[in-house]
Amino acid sequence: MTQALYRKWRPQLWDEVIGQEHVIRTLQNAVRTERVGHAYLFAGPRGTGKTTTARLLAKAINCLDGNLSTRPCDRCEHCQAVNQGRFLDLIEIDAASNTSVEDVRSLRDKINFSPTQGRCKVYIIDEVHMLSTAAFNALLKTLEEPPPHAIFILATTEVHKIPATVLSRCQRHEFRRIPVNEIVSHLTALCKQEKLEIEPDALLLIARQATGSMRDAISLLDQLASTGEKITLHTAQTILGTATSQAVISLVNSILTKQTANGLTCIHQALDSGSDPRQFARQVVEYLRSLLLIQLNHSEQVEATPEVRAQLAQQASQFEPASLLETIRLFNAAAGEIRSTWQPGLPLELAFAQAMIPPRAATDITLQPKPQAPHRAPSPTASPSARSLEEASQKQASSSHKEDSLEKTAPPVQTSDAVEAPPRPKTTADGDLSLAEVRQHWKRIRAGVKQRSMSTEALLNSSRPLGIKNGALILGFATEVLKSKMEIRENLELVCQQIAAATAKEIRLICVVNNKTNFDLDNLEVDSDGMVGTALNLGGQIVQKE
Ligand SMILES: Nc1ncnc2c1ncn2[C@@H]1O[C@H](COP(=O)(O)OP(=O)(O)OP(=O)(O)O)[C@@H](O)[C@H]1O
Ligand SMILES: [Mg+2]
Ligand SMILES: [Zn+2]
Repeated sequence: MTQALYRKWRPQLWDEVIGQEHVIRTLQNAVRTERVGHAYLFAGPRGTGKTTTARLLAKAINCLDGNLSTRPCDRCEHCQAVNQGRFLDLIEIDAASNTSVEDVRSLRDKINFSPTQGRCKVYIIDEVHMLSTAAFNALLKTLEEPPPHAIFILATTEVHKIPATVLSRCQRHEFRRIPVNEIVSHLTALCKQEKLEIEPDALLLIARQATGSMRDAISLLDQLASTGEKITLHTAQTILGTATSQAVISLVNSILTKQTANGLTCIHQALDSGSDPRQFARQVVEYLRSLLLIQLNHSEQVEATPEVRAQLAQQASQFEPASLLETIRLFNAAAGEIRSTWQPGLPLELAFAQAMIPPRAATDITLQPKPQAPHRAPSPTASPSARSLEEASQKQASSSHKEDSLEKTAPPVQTSDAVEAPPRPKTTADGDLSLAEVRQHWKRIRAGVKQRSMSTEALLNSSRPLGIKNGALILGFATEVLKSKMEIRENLELVCQQIAAATAKEIRLICVVNNKTNFDLDNLEVDSDGMVGTALNLGGQIVQKE
């Protein structure tokens, strides 16, 4: 079997260690000035060079090179022995598999023997946080009075699990995540030497996936290189599982089209077929983020294949900016919660369900495309992104103006929003729609609705058109439950659509609870400023006044 690339590429000299200059400089100085301490703790994320640096230090301490500042030389007998893993005075202990007191005690017993080959015995205790409390105590004794020829290097990814008593005996060095650009340039050099052909975008993807771990980056590259072909972005996405899965696209589609059952099916199918819930949530967030970037005119920052890009562009034009932001927040929160819940699918389902509810209850709907808001100059304090969002939403509004013929089949939803200009219903035939006209066409309207949704028609069946007020048709429902069922965006849209189809006139709908035979329209406060919607959003309820 060929050697894993990350082993082959283990730095053998100080300056080959990437991204940890602060640590390397200090250690190099200590070697040069012969001031190496007796106990070190290397803390930091996995794959960032802790074990590598520990071995480099062990090598430098025992290197035979006459010049202190060029240690380790990597050529002398000792350096070679360390490289080949046969240097007797370098003892590596994996605390993960030697956690007991006995292990540490036997270490302590042996520690008093002088070094066999070199100047110092170097003990590297990897994953030191795994030691038991008793083992830590035993270790502590050794750290308190180390024999002069012994040097301890403890390494851990979880420094918070190390007892303070141990910490206080060690010189601590923090290893940091390696930045994406440094990973990219290291991998570029590596590919050149290994004669691997790879697209720059694929390298970038690998570097991002590695989240700061050079070992992970090299391993991912190794995995991709095993195909023996040129590594393209496409293969990288497929093999690394970062290709936007169809499940993610379908889920977002369900949110856009308000298809609850479909959306839940997408989630369940993805999880049943083995997707990791957190990974899935992240993919959804990543995908929604791409939609946002497109809405904000930053599509060049989106990495996607041409097919996915086309999907993204289409969905970005359909998403209302406010709902998009809310949906991103919801799934992002879900991605964070999954680890702490006993039912890993639940946060996804909750996020999805919440995303189906428009940010502000759609009480009030119009067939008219969102009117160009009276131009609000972006306030001087508005952040650039807030401003572009505003532009994006205006662009969306004006683009739907152009698509007049589409409006009748898919009216853009007008959610009531106190800051926006009042929606003014547009009439396509002469004159405003009257209650008489609605009543005259009521049967046809209901038949049209029934063709598309039996349940919406059932709701209409239990409602009565009460009147027209300020350009809105008031629909009365016997109970709050029925009213609120009708107030789902899909239902409002459908009814408006069918009114338009039957009467060639557009009107918005306001649903009220009306359990009296005579509804006093005059006392109903419906104004064209969307006050009713605003009040409802604040928890108000319209009931008929006596
Ligand atoms: N800073 C770095 N510069 C260059 N290569 C690195 C660096 N960090 C890690 N690597 C690569 O990753 C491999 C593994 O690194 P190393 O074992 O030192 O990581 P570690 O921090 O000890 O990780 P863990 O916490 O998982 O033990 C090295 O052989 C090398 O190929
Ligand atoms: Mg290690
Ligand atoms: Zn040497």
